[in-house]
Amino acid sequence: MKKIISVVGARPNFMKIAPIHRAFKKFREEHPDSEIIHKICHTGQHYDNNMSDIFIKELELPKPDFYLGVGSGSHAVQTAKIMIEFEKVLLNEKPDLVIVVGDVNSTIACSLTAVKCGIKVAHVEAGLRSFDRSMPEEINRILTDAISDYLFVSEKSGIANLKREGIPDERIFFVGNVMIDSLVYYLPKIDKSNVLKNFYLKPFEYGVVTLHRPSNVDYKDKLSNIVDFLREISVFKRLVFPVHPRTYNNLEKFGLLTLLNHNIVLTQPMGYIDFIALVKNSSFVLTDSGGIQEETTYLGIPCITLRNSTERPITVEIGTNYLAGEDINTAYGYIWEIINGNAKVGKIPELWDGKASERIVEIIVRAIQNW
Ligand code: UD1
Repeated sequence: MKKIISVVGARPNFMKIAPIHRAFKKFREEHPDSEIIHKICHTGQHYDNNMSDIFIKELELPKPDFYLGVGSGSHAVQTAKIMIEFEKVLLNEKPDLVIVVGDVNSTIACSLTAVKCGIKVAHVEAGLRSFDRSMPEEINRILTDAISDYLFVSEKSGIANLKREGIPDERIFFVGNVMIDSLVYYLPKIDKSNVLKNFYLKPFEYGVVTLHRPSNVDYKDKLSNIVDFLREISVFKRLVFPVHPRTYNNLEKFGLLTLLNHNIVLTQPMGYIDFIALVKNSSFVLTDSGGIQEETTYLGIPCITLRNSTERPITVEIGTNYLAGEDINTAYGYIWEIINGNAKVGKIPELWDGKASERIVEIIVRAIQNW
């Protein structure tokens, strides 16, 4: 018997592990004698219903086999708590492989714990680099890639980055994008969402906003500038803004919440199906997220990214993403171009075809049988 544990922790992890879990299930159905067991560990980094449970339900993930319940805290506290609890799981379960995805604190905490227990690690979404070490995620990416045995890459820039950092070729696998696997799989359901009706919206007559990066939302001046910017846009375009808990807390703390006027619809964070339906029918998305840059590129929706760098350059090079930096005027210019019908036309990147998870499972299964 071979045992694999996949880790989920924060909101963007669920849509990446769901298709991997489905691919393992499919493999077992097709190979009933294979004796490969796939379990899921939820660290509890995100714990609200609308940051976690709703995704487990909508993405048809089973109840996690292990729940570590670590919750919020400083980076050191959160990472350390995950490591302490995850080590107990590993010592009990003795898995052959741990799979981590993305770049959140749960990713580095669990990969580091596994490697120190002598357990192999596979990192899905490896090799992405923003080259901005002030981002906590960049540190998580670099460290996780340095200690992983299998590095599954979603876009070609990742291969070059890993090679430059001295990762041997035989550890690198260009498989495509598991987040897009979820998107492709759930498109029929997404198209049936009632989210537009519920918010009285008409297709392409509104923009979507998401913000949660500490660099954008943790400082009063910065957040205040962004709020002014949103107010300006909302004069000519309705905005829908599902607010991340970190952002909500700061808007409240800095006294900015009441400035978001009636043409900006503020909502709780949304579930996966409704959120993607909202994006798919929007005129543009204004965001500082990582994954949304990819989802908009796949859907052909213009995306203005309020960051100085992106670890997903393919979305700018061939997709629909604009990197606006921190200059609000630049972002304003892009929105104006889009509203005037001059948005750039994107292409879907190589291997973003809904089958990345199946490729990953095939590679893992082939490897694991020889251990
Ligand atoms: C984390 C990830 C980030 C990812 C984001 C997606 C790291 C370093 N950051 O950032 O890469 O893009 O998730 O959302 O791992 N909170 C709640 N309820 C929750 C979760 C969080 O209220 O269910 C609040 C807490 O006040 C918490 C704050 O949000 O302190 C931030 O949560 P945290 O997990 O530390 O980081 P995120 O900003 O969500």
